[in-house]
Amino acid sequence: DWTMGAYREQMIEQIRAQVGDKQVICGLSGGVDSSVAAILIHEAIGDQLTCVFVDHGLLRKNEAQEVVAMFRDNYNIRLIHADESELFLGELDGQSDPETKRKIIGKLFIDVFQKHADTIDGAEFLAQGTLYPDVIESVSFSGGPSVTIKSHHNVGGLPEKMGLKLVEPLRELFKDEVRALGRELGLPQSFIGRHPFPGPGLAIRCPGEITREKLEILREADAIYIDQIRKHGLYDEIWQAFVAILPVRTVGVMGDGRTYDYACALRAVTSVDGMTADYYPFTHDFLGETATRIINEVGGINRCTYDITSKPPGTIEWE
Ligand code: XMP
Repeated sequence: DWTMGAYREQMIEQIRAQVGDKQVICGLSGGVDSSVAAILIHEAIGDQLTCVFVDHGLLRKNEAQEVVAMFRDNYNIRLIHADESELFLGELDGQSDPETKRKIIGKLFIDVFQKHADTIDGAEFLAQGTLYPDVIESVSFSGGPSVTIKSHHNVGGLPEKMGLKLVEPLRELFKDEVRALGRELGLPQSFIGRHPFPGPGLAIRCPGEITREKLEILREADAIYIDQIRKHGLYDEIWQAFVAILPVRTVGVMGDGRTYDYACALRAVTSVDGMTADYYPFTHDFLGETATRIINEVGGINRCTYDITSKPPGTIEWE
């Protein structure tokens, strides 16, 4: 794509001119936007960039390892892997209110990011994967309730507090253009096409209290569900798909015995922008096969339901 090739060159010049010989820090979420921003900036200034990946212990199966391996091994980008799962899960212990859970995660995220950023000598810039729609949204929502989609990853207020200037090379781009730029930069399609994942992660897919046991069960079930979707060639038709583990145990039979385990809900939606959504019309065969796999392969789940709620009136996530 020649257009993106030209944009890439232009941005690299611009980043070099803006940053000079100073240090830049970048919060990496593992999502497409922050990844593309980091790789582009790295191409411009190399080791003057340090990325901070905050692992809150609420990621999907193998996600932290995959993100870290991709940036360290394939791109040779300086990366701090901040494994703060003990801290986050500790603070979340016993909390069941959705907004309280989000607030705890958002606050800790900023604290942790700042703590690690402070260890980088001479950092003068903070890089963010802000897109054009984010720019518009944060303007129209300013002063309003904190319902912006990226409330948690947006390290709002941090740049001023830390005396940092912003580097935002994707500010003029829409999502599809960021994907095109990602391809131009050599990111694998499997990464570029990834479904969106919320900042609070599995916390909002585990309604009610979060426990390590529930998170483990959820990770296993979710991995099987996504595997099924990929195997059936449906991944790219779906906006987002995930499992939620429900705060209820139900009775089942397995072999000769009675079971008393968690129920889970499968969710898959189509959407253009996440603002409205329709449930995805899987075939009954697909649903049956997937439920059987999850119940047989995941200890701790004995019942599987499919969520057919559209947005509105439902939301995509369960919390
Ligand atoms: P809902 O559940 O509100 O989600 O229909 C719409 C989109 O936003 C994502 N989402 C979040 N992303 N922090 C995020 O970074 C959040 O607190 C949050 N809540 C929802 C959700 O995954 C979907 O893509």
